[in-house]
Amino acid sequence: MAFGREKIELKTPEQIRLMRRAGLVVAEALAAAKAAARPGATTADLDGAAAAVIAQAGATPSFLGYYDYPATICVSVNEEVVHGIPGDRVLQPGDLVSIDCGAIVEGWHGDSALSLVLDDIDPADAALVEVTRKAMWDGIAALWGGDGLADRLNVVGDAVEDAVDGSGIGYGIVEEYVGHGIGSQMHLPPDVLNYRVRDRLLKLKPGMCLAIEPMITRGTIATETLDDDWTVITADGSRAAHWEHSVALFEDGLWVLTADDGGLAELGARGVPVAALD
Ligand code: MF3
Ligand code: CO
Repeated sequence: MAFGREKIELKTPEQIRLMRRAGLVVAEALAAAKAAARPGATTADLDGAAAAVIAQAGATPSFLGYYDYPATICVSVNEEVVHGIPGDRVLQPGDLVSIDCGAIVEGWHGDSALSLVLDDIDPADAALVEVTRKAMWDGIAALWGGDGLADRLNVVGDAVEDAVDGSGIGYGIVEEYVGHGIGSQMHLPPDVLNYRVRDRLLKLKPGMCLAIEPMITRGTIATETLDDDWTVITADGSRAAHWEHSVALFEDGLWVLTADDGGLAELGARGVPVAALD
């Protein structure tokens, strides 16, 4: 647990523009992996598609070699929550697939994830994916307080929990894995919790960059790790979804570094200004 003593890395606008370059490479790599995700493809095929985009862009995959992680992306299927290792697993109709990717440009990191359901879609899985996506965007939008940045990091967990509760379905919000600061490294303080806490968390400031990444299940919040020491699954076998974006905080708004449009569509719909980054 963080007690607010950690040094938080604040970025200059110039550094954030480099992070946007990394973020846009991640967005393109995720799009390629998503396009490759169909029944009959292996999870390694998705990894190859993302790796090709990152190499073509002259960027570096940030997951590969991170604590000896052996791939460019994580592909987590069905009851797998996060950190699934791509391999010879063949995707099946109806699989719920979460894809997570990170890349580095000139030393600056981007990190993003998405979930999708392959045909034939179970509507209950599609609903989970959509609630998780909405929870992520509500969590991002909550960083803006109306006429300036919100006061404290608590707003993210509050908004994610409200979005999940608002669905009226008894989903679980995973607590063992959380979002994080991002910048000169993939994982920096602070932890970004996806649930409500009473403690007063960190004060939000311009120049902060945060990865917002709720992981939501159709059942329990309890997780287990497989013998590969990476793959995290739900303890009850229920399916899980994961969405993530890296976001920069400015005095005049937010910029979603890993979204093609900087977050304009989803933030605009929530009355949140996109910062003037250029
Ligand atoms: N992208 C994950 C996160 O959001 C980290 C992946 S762990 C790795 O924090 F080893 F695969 F890199
Ligand atoms: Co992350």
